[in-house]
Amino acid sequence: MERLLVSGPSITQKEIDYVTDAVTRCWYSDANIYHNKFEKAFAEYVGRRYAIALPSCTSAIHLSLLALGIGPGDEVIVPDITWIASAAPIHYVGAIPVFADIDSKTWCLSAESFESCITSKTKAVIPVDLYGNMPNMDQLCQIAQKHGIAVIEDAAEAIGSEFNGKQAGGFGDTSVFSFHGSKTLTTGEGGMLLTDREDLYQRVLVLRDHGRLPDDKMFFNSEVAYKYKMSSMQAALGLAQLERIEELITRKREIFAWYAESLAEVEGITLNYERLGTKNTYWMITAILDSKYNLKKEALITLLDKDGIDSRPFFFPLSSIPAYANHPQAELARQRNKISYTLSPYGVNLPSGLYLTQEKVAYVANTLKGILQLAP
Ligand SMILES: Cc1ncc(COP(=O)(O)O)c(C=O)c1O
Repeated sequence: MERLLVSGPSITQKEIDYVTDAVTRCWYSDANIYHNKFEKAFAEYVGRRYAIALPSCTSAIHLSLLALGIGPGDEVIVPDITWIASAAPIHYVGAIPVFADIDSKTWCLSAESFESCITSKTKAVIPVDLYGNMPNMDQLCQIAQKHGIAVIEDAAEAIGSEFNGKQAGGFGDTSVFSFHGSKTLTTGEGGMLLTDREDLYQRVLVLRDHGRLPDDKMFFNSEVAYKYKMSSMQAALGLAQLERIEELITRKREIFAWYAESLAEVEGITLNYERLGTKNTYWMITAILDSKYNLKKEALITLLDKDGIDSRPFFFPLSSIPAYANHPQAELARQRNKISYTLSPYGVNLPSGLYLTQEKVAYVANTLKGILQLAP
């Protein structure tokens, strides 16, 4: 069997046709044809008023923070378990990241830990819809509202997920998505910022276009800002993928169901959780081993690799990585975030690409079972 990669897109003739069309005719005055369609369809899909296509989700978080007026000295709470992209833009604006613990079941931001991290300097929270799951967004938004804190929902990994009937990306002052090559809906690289607030929408449009106001004289910019734009080819690819979104999500859920079935009888493996009322779209199918196996993620990844299976470590707590070695907030988080530090050493993302078949999933599951039988 060929090497099983951890992720991989689903590209059909539709994607090839749309991108070919964009590269053939969408230039100069027609350059935004696909952006307009993609943004409109995306906003409708998520159920928000405005959507702005961007070069990445990282830029969407950066612009969200800027538009919300967050800057030097302000604190922004993020879960300790996430990709560094959720936290890096906090530094771009000169603010301070505060790392809160996660919930033991959803692996997303714990509402209790979030509330305990709030200080008079807290200006925003960035809950992350980790691996396609969702935190208790109702509770998080209530706490944020009570304390006057802005919410940026990081839905990078969760297109199509739902919490109590509301789509991922439907919460907060802004929400953000990633269309990186590993994502369920991909544009190669790319992102989207969504909001219902007219003021934030208008501000982001200016910030992402070198500070040009709609009525500015040509080349006579009102302020110094950023250049964050997606290309027509990416927007065309995104539109084609969005038109197939139900198929892509159904596939992800099917792949998860194959894993769940194949691993059901193995004791001491916890897969992604789906709470009643949440729809999980399982961006990364993840296994956390019971510590009784005495098999840490790095060792498991090496063993799977020998059998041609690519896997990835469950995110390390941000407070534990070299980038934050000397950060005072990381020191506090290392002492506080018991769940992050208990789960992370034993978690592995298994192959989750849209190319997978039931046979390939069975091969991964059987290999994993074999490894566990031999575990010390
Ligand atoms: C949770 C999370 N936030 C943000 C990002 C950043 O996305 P991008 O690579 O599009 O900037 C990612 C991407 O992997 C992510 O997983």
